[in-house]
Amino acid sequence: MPGTIGFIGCGNMGHAIVHGAITHRVIDPSAISIVEKSAGRREWAESQGCAALTDVADLQPVDQLVLAVKPQSFPEVADELGRLDHPCIVTSVMAGIRSSRIREALGEHARVIRTMPNTPAMIGHGVAGVAMGDGSREGDELLARELLDSIGTTIMVDESMMDVVTAVSGSGPAYVYLLAEAWEKAAIELGLEQSDARHFVQQTIRGASAMMLENDIEPSELRAAVTSKGGTTAAALDVMIQRDIPGIVKDAIEAAADRGRELAGDS
Ligand SMILES: NC(=O)c1ccc[n+]([C@@H]2O[C@H](COP(=O)([O-])OP(=O)(O)OC[C@H]3O[C@@H](n4cnc5c(N)ncnc54)[C@H](OP(=O)(O)O)[C@@H]3O)[C@@H](O)[C@H]2O)c1
Repeated sequence: MPGTIGFIGCGNMGHAIVHGAITHRVIDPSAISIVEKSAGRREWAESQGCAALTDVADLQPVDQLVLAVKPQSFPEVADELGRLDHPCIVTSVMAGIRSSRIREALGEHARVIRTMPNTPAMIGHGVAGVAMGDGSREGDELLARELLDSIGTTIMVDESMMDVVTAVSGSGPAYVYLLAEAWEKAAIELGLEQSDARHFVQQTIRGASAMMLENDIEPSELRAAVTSKGGTTAAALDVMIQRDIPGIVKDAIEAAADRGRELAGDS
């Protein structure tokens, strides 16, 4: 067991992480304190056997802290926490806040680990990048990995790659949803019932994803296997390639990474 843990923020991400941690017995609920503004979420925390607090100032010293508030709430949370007076592993799930900034605010006792999960974590299918941050030592990343592995998978990356991870997988679910919206609309316009169209699209995305995961086959190889010359798939792919979908995807992901750097104050 990793000692005592304080979660600051228990919204979408915080809730997914705490729920996964308790369900998979990564942490005993009695070791968890949750600071959360919303009364409903504090009630949920208490129902799980965790301590629930309204104010950061009321948090007793803990061995590890998980910062799961929106990036714009960080200055307020940092002010409330002040400089830590004992060694503490601080795991951040906040997008675009460098570990150096977190350590600068919380002081030299903070050993910072950065993570970038994504929303499928809420149903146990997330993927998260984990990076060693300022002041961290080997082993400090273990709890973050255990927590995030309980609701998906994790990959260790250098902190300099976190904006790229954010652009690829943090924002990634939205790219699939946009595609699904357009795909479903086209299916309805061609005459399918809305509920049937939705199911065909959902199940096709799930099946294609499972095919890639199951056999670890190159996507280009799987694509070739369903594309016969002069056939229906080829007709669709011709349009997509003519309209440069690969180039659009590249530009979009680059734009997300640039925006991440901009928000972090790098440019
Ligand atoms: N959602 C995603 O797709 C995603 C993916 C990867 C990473 N992240 C990162 O995860 C972090 C959390 O995102 P989220 O979607 O979980 O946000 P969220 O649902 O808004 O959760 C944040 C929670 O923290 C509470 N809070 C704010 N200030 C607080 C304070 N001073 N003390 C205690 N609680 C406080 C908020 O309460 P109020 O609502 O009352 O302010 C809210 O319940 C963000 O930094 C984001 O960058 C999110």
